[in-house]
Amino acid sequence: MKGSRILGTGAYMPSNVMSNKAIEALVDTSDEWIRERTGIVERRISQGETTSDLATKAAIEALKDSNVTAKEIDLIIVATVSADSIIPSAACKVQKNIGADNAMAFDINAACSGFIFALDMANNYIAAGRATKALVIGAEVLSKITDWKDRNTCVLFGDGAGAVVLSEDKEKHINYVNCRSVGEKWESLTCEGSPLNNPYVDCGDIHDGKLKMNGKDIYKFAVKTMDEEFNRILNESKLKKENIDFILPHQANMRMLESFSKKVEIPLDRFIINLQHVGNTSGASIPVALDEANKAGILSSGSNLLIIGFGGGLTYGSTLLKWNK
Ligand code: ACO
Repeated sequence: MKGSRILGTGAYMPSNVMSNKAIEALVDTSDEWIRERTGIVERRISQGETTSDLATKAAIEALKDSNVTAKEIDLIIVATVSADSIIPSAACKVQKNIGADNAMAFDINAACSGFIFALDMANNYIAAGRATKALVIGAEVLSKITDWKDRNTCVLFGDGAGAVVLSEDKEKHINYVNCRSVGEKWESLTCEGSPLNNPYVDCGDIHDGKLKMNGKDIYKFAVKTMDEEFNRILNESKLKKENIDFILPHQANMRMLESFSKKVEIPLDRFIINLQHVGNTSGASIPVALDEANKAGILSSGSNLLIIGFGGGLTYGSTLLKWNK
């Protein structure tokens, strides 16, 4: 079985910054409420760029950071819930945009856990000898499926994209991966597509196509699963807490991360957190934060990075990554 390693990272965020104050003009909320309950100060909102545009720019950055050409890429996976279209996939558009003619390209949907699921898939393709260099991308234009009249959700989300180049390697740098789904709880977070409408049945009007969320359910689910995943990884890896250099969580809510930090007794300064400035970018959240940490020079060779996420589905996942770049 071949191992794999992240060679480089990239990210791209739309330039338009939307502050909490700007949201005050849309719904009955306040900057103070949003900061206190979520930690979010601002987010980036697309003014025309599509999910595949953002994904393409993040991919180009990741290729540059990795010193890899698009022609060397043989697998492209985009984790997204907000692709430009049902057909084609965002991944196929990225393939065309960057000229990665030798790649297999497809999207996956595991909501906010999507990047972890995609990384696991790419890692397994490489381990099986089916790919040698993969672009794993998380990209979202959530603003198009956000209900801008619903204060329970519109304050949370943002747009953006992050990417990594994962290459085959003599050693395994991605370990103890766990990707799980709890379909029983699917109703906690939904965004309906088109209803069945064909010559035999007419199930009515097209739904509004906007995100609907039971925030409390997801909050409880997230705190419970993050704690369980943390303990699972410690048990399986036999690592001590002190040996986890950084925790890179899905960027959903600061209060959630504070309570997780207390529970596992790892101070917040060992967490990689950027939600204050980008909000919850779903599938993009982890690779965007990873790119920020990489570019800020926070990670050093040999750092143990625990990546952990949860999201719609419901889904969750985690992995222990040995940084070696
Ligand atoms: N501004 C002002 N008041 C608000 C707002 C707002 N934006 N939103 C809700 N409120 C009100 C509510 O109506 C409620 O008022 P009431 O007491 O009069 O009924 C009060 O504030 C408290 O509401 P709660 O829902 O209890 O607020 P809570 O502290 O639970 O925070 C939040 C809500 C931020 C949504 C939290 O539950 C959360 O973060 N949940 C997790 C969401 C998440 O992480 N989703 C990730 C998955 S997303 C994906 O996969 C794409």
